[in-house]
Amino acid sequence: MSGFDIDKARANFPSLKSGFIFGDNAGGSQAAQGVIDRIVDYLSNTNVQLGADYSVSVESTRRAMVEAPAEVAKLFNASPDEIVFSHSSTMNLENVARALEHDIQPGDEFIVTTEHEANAGPWKKLAARRGAVVKVWKASPTREDNPYSLSLKTAELLPLITDKTRIVAFTATSNILGSVVPVREVVAALRADAEAKGARKVEVSVDCVAYAPHRLIDVRGWDVDFAVFSFYKVYGPHISALYIRAATLEASMQPLVHHFLKLDHTAYKIQPGGPGYELAYATTGAVDYLLSLTPARDLNKTFEAIAAHEQTLVQPLLEFLTAPAQRERGVRVVGEETAGLTRVPTISFVVVGQRPIRSRDVVRVFDEKGGIGIRYGHFYAYSLVNELSPKVDIDDGVVRISLVHYNTVEEVNRIIEILKEVFAA
Ligand SMILES: Cc1ncc(COP(=O)(O)O)c(C=O)c1O
Repeated sequence: MSGFDIDKARANFPSLKSGFIFGDNAGGSQAAQGVIDRIVDYLSNTNVQLGADYSVSVESTRRAMVEAPAEVAKLFNASPDEIVFSHSSTMNLENVARALEHDIQPGDEFIVTTEHEANAGPWKKLAARRGAVVKVWKASPTREDNPYSLSLKTAELLPLITDKTRIVAFTATSNILGSVVPVREVVAALRADAEAKGARKVEVSVDCVAYAPHRLIDVRGWDVDFAVFSFYKVYGPHISALYIRAATLEASMQPLVHHFLKLDHTAYKIQPGGPGYELAYATTGAVDYLLSLTPARDLNKTFEAIAAHEQTLVQPLLEFLTAPAQRERGVRVVGEETAGLTRVPTISFVVVGQRPIRSRDVVRVFDEKGGIGIRYGHFYAYSLVNELSPKVDIDDGVVRISLVHYNTVEEVNRIIEILKEVFAA
C-alpha cells in the first residue's frame, strides 16, 4: 500500500503484540506507545498543579495548556485557542448546550439526528428547558431491497430548515452506519437555505467521534461552529477535544467557569474544571503517531493512506455480507452496502428472515472462540436502532465489527471464517 506501512503502524501499539484481534475500535481504539509514554512521563516528572511560578509547574502548564491544544488543533484545522478538553464528548457537548442557553428563544428550532445520543440529548434537553422545537433529520434507506441500508441525505435535511432554525447537530460519521457524511456540502447547503429563508442565526454542531479515527477533520473548510471527538477512539487516552469557533464563542456563549475566572475571550470559559492533565498532554502522542505514518509528517497524506488501507478491510467484509448466499440467509447490513471512500470500516448487520439469529448469539460465537473482540447492541445510537423498520429488538441491537487502520486483511478473513460458521448453523 503506497504511503502506508501496516507493520510499522502496528509496531506502535503494544497491545497488538498479543495477536488479539481488536474489532470493537469504534467503542475504543488501542493506545499508541507515544501516548502511554507521555502519561508516564507527565505523572513521573510534572504532576503538579498548573499555573504556579516554580519550574515544574511552568512545565506542566506548558505541556497541558500550550503544547496539547497546539497539537490537537492540527487534527481540527483550527487555532489552538479554539480547543478545550473534557472527560468525554458527551460532557463537551452538554457544556456547549449549557453555554448557549441564554441565547435560545422559545420557538427556536433545533435539528438533530437519531445518531449517538451525545449530539442529540443535550439539544433535546436544552429545547425542553427553553421552549425550543426539536426536529429530526432521519437516515433513510439507499437500496430498495434492504430497508436497513440507511444514510443521511442532504435533500431530506433542507425541508426541515425554516426561519426559526437555530441549531443543526449531526454526526460526520455514524458509529453504526459507518458512512462519511459530506459535511462541507451539507453545511454549505443548509446555510444557504437558512439564509434564504431568513433564519436569525444558525450554529452547526458536528459529532466527529466515529469520523476522526478515519478521516481528517477540517472545521474551517466545513464552516461549522462546534466539532468534537474522543481521543480514546483515536489511538489516545480517555479524554475528548472540542473545537469552538472563536467568533461563536464571543457572540453566543456564556462562561461556565467560576465567576472570578477571567477567561471570557478563550475557549476555556466552556471548560468547567480541569480535564486530566496527564491525559491532555498524552493527546500529543496520538497526534505525533498520526504524523509519523507518512514520511512528510503530513496529516492529509496520513489520512489518505489510512483511508486507502481501510478500503482493503471494508471491501471483503461488505462483499461477504452482501453476497447472494448471505442475503438469502437473512443477513442485512445496517448502513450503506457499498465500499468506497464514503465508507469507513464500521460495519453493522442483523440476521433476519426465516431463520433469524440474535445479535448476541452471533457475538457469543466470537467470544467462545476467543482471541477476538466484537460487540452487539445499540451503541448509544438508541433512537436509530429503536426506529429501525422492520423493528429490531433494542436490547439485542445490531452486530458491529469496527476496524481501523491497524487491522489487517488476515484479521478480516478470520472474521469472515467465523461468520460463515455462524450463518451455516
Ligand atoms: C459517534 C459517537 N459520538 C459520541 C460518542 C460519545 O463519546 P464519549 O464516550 O467521549 O462521550 C461516541 C462514543 O461511542 C460515539 O461513537
